[in-house]
Amino acid sequence: MKTIVSGMRPTGSLHIGHYFGALKNWIDLQHHNQCYFTVVDWHALTSEFEDTRNIPAHTREMVADWLASGLDPNLCTIFLQSGVDAQSVLYLILGMFTPIGWLERNPTYKEQKEQIQHRDLSNLGFFAYPVLQTADILLYKGEKVPVGVDQVPHIELSREIARRFNRIAGEIFPEPEALLTPSPKISGTDGRKMSKSYGNAISLGEPSQELEKKVKAMVTDPNRIRRSDPGDPKQCNLFPLHELLSSKETQEEVIQGCTTAGIGCVDCKKMLLPSLEA
Ligand code: TRP
Ligand code: SF4
Repeated sequence: MKTIVSGMRPTGSLHIGHYFGALKNWIDLQHHNQCYFTVVDWHALTSEFEDTRNIPAHTREMVADWLASGLDPNLCTIFLQSGVDAQSVLYLILGMFTPIGWLERNPTYKEQKEQIQHRDLSNLGFFAYPVLQTADILLYKGEKVPVGVDQVPHIELSREIARRFNRIAGEIFPEPEALLTPSPKISGTDGRKMSKSYGNAISLGEPSQELEKKVKAMVTDPNRIRRSDPGDPKQCNLFPLHELLSSKETQEEVIQGCTTAGIGCVDCKKMLLPSLEA
């Protein structure tokens, strides 16, 4: 039994990429661990401080998807970051223990400052984002932090901050460790990374009609141009969904049918729909 802490920014309703990349893992972990899952609305402010109107609705939509997917408030603690004042107090204290150089070296910070040109990110809140995240974890003496690989530098920083704090102020905090989510690569309907902002996402609450339309429009093996061309599921953007959601029998039927041109992509998509619906 470990103490587990993780958080998501309130982005509104979630898509199946979020589910397989994070949420499913949280749902599994809640059964055998002490879990804290938080909506990090203070973190949302780092980019949305000028217009906060969407944050409450996005929070509700996201938590509704957490619950619908199987996060169970009887098994884990679900809460709003800004609802626990001690979080901000610890953030303040940890700030004293965080050398500026550590934050300057943070690869996410450097990358986002380069890539995001349309917003001014030169503010203290954005710079100190990883300290805020560290406070989330250390407040609950989190030992394991389920996250994607992109978050590993942040967790490394959290470890360093915990270590420095412990050395100076006494052994208080465990050094948290990233628990890497085995995240299958889920592409969007157009083959790019699934993202709401690309308009290629399949959301968890997708209505049946929309779902059908989206699946119909999905790109498949680019070399399978005609119905009579054999395809290769490994080159196909749709097949990973069969692997995650369909029965072994269906998967075998697809591999067999696809590679021999026995089935067309339209058939394959029809077979995927009930799996996705379920
Ligand atoms: N920074 C994380 C992200 O963007 C979200 C986050 C905030 C988090 N606090 C956390 C993740 C604490 C794990 C633990 O995805
Ligand atoms: Fe992809 Fe299925 Fe078409 Fe094969 S038959 S290319 S697996 S959609």
